[in-house]
Amino acid sequence: MAFEIIGTGRAVPPKKVSNNDLAAQIDTSDEWIRSHTGIGSRHYAEDTVACSDLGIEAALNAMAMAAGYTGENPAERDKAAAEIAPTIDIIILATATADYYGTPSTACIVQDKIGAKSAAAMDITAGCTGFVYGLETAAGLLAVNPERKRALVIGAEVLSKLMNWDDRGTCVLFGDGAGAVVLEKTNAENKGILKTLLYADGSGNESLLMRRGGTRNPFKKGEVIDTGICVEMNGQEVYNFAVGAISTTITALMESPVEGLGNITVENISWIVPHQANARIVQAARRRLRIPEEKFYMNIEEYANTSSATIPIALDEMNRSGKLKKGDLVLTVGFGGGLTYGGNIIIW
Ligand code: UT7
Repeated sequence: MAFEIIGTGRAVPPKKVSNNDLAAQIDTSDEWIRSHTGIGSRHYAEDTVACSDLGIEAALNAMAMAAGYTGENPAERDKAAAEIAPTIDIIILATATADYYGTPSTACIVQDKIGAKSAAAMDITAGCTGFVYGLETAAGLLAVNPERKRALVIGAEVLSKLMNWDDRGTCVLFGDGAGAVVLEKTNAENKGILKTLLYADGSGNESLLMRRGGTRNPFKKGEVIDTGICVEMNGQEVYNFAVGAISTTITALMESPVEGLGNITVENISWIVPHQANARIVQAARRRLRIPEEKFYMNIEEYANTSSATIPIALDEMNRSGKLKKGDLVLTVGFGGGLTYGGNIIIW
């Protein structure tokens, strides 16, 4: 049994905000942001756009590709996606920036809008590792029931709406976007998602969190709220955790033989697709692991950190530009709030 990616898609809001644009609003500079993170710009959703809107677009693009359409015509795209919609059994949407708090899941909103009438739908909260967790969750749900064949896995975020603009160490890092894949259960051998490792270290839960609004810290009647729900991060703590998380995950993925593939060496790997949080984090881990720079796919310069969406956006960019070839061995590695981390081994 294999779990193959048969379609990829992404959706990035057209509004591009450069470091200099931000520097005109808050006390920061292009020089600081680039030198500390590798970020050059990020894309922000319009006021009317929520997480599900980006998730739906990414999903439709992935579904259309699964139906054989990769063109730019929206009507043709929707027609192709509609062919696939009734065949989807599961929708998993990873996000930290859901349309609504708690319920309904953003996945249910996507399910309705894309017409996936037979699909079960749920969200995953695993911070920036959400897509890595989502692939394994979807594969597991496909595996246990012979009647389930296809899953849609989405990472979608509108982080720009949950920033504290007085916290310049955090707000410059994040952007909006979504990526999606269609996963299909097949009888192929040595293809698709071969192995996934998932980890959590909840002792670091306060290093990256949204403190307000939950049952730990509910809003109180009469309270004056001058800062909305926002992402709070201890940058240094997350940085140190992240370098270790990448190193541990890649080492562990390569450590034990993979069924059908044997031992994985750096030479076998075509691409490592890391979560795009900070180019310096990836560089530090890469040096520790002694893996050449060109094995790592990076696009943080354009999109900044889109949390659960960075890995599926990267996969779609690589896929559509022809960088990913059939048979390529791809390692993903994610890390983020929770704290969580993990990675997948995929034969493309
Ligand atoms: O998706 C996973 C979640 N996130 C991450 O992986 C992020 C992990 N952490 C990081 O990437 C880094 O810790 C940051 C990029 C967030 C911060 O970099 P840093 O080198 O650790 O900077 P710092 O927080 O130690 O701050 C150094 C200086 C401070 O000034 P002083 O006190 O030395 O005068 C900050 O006030 O840089 C200042 N600073 C800024 N200056 C200009 C912090 N943010 C900014 C800014 N613009 N945006």
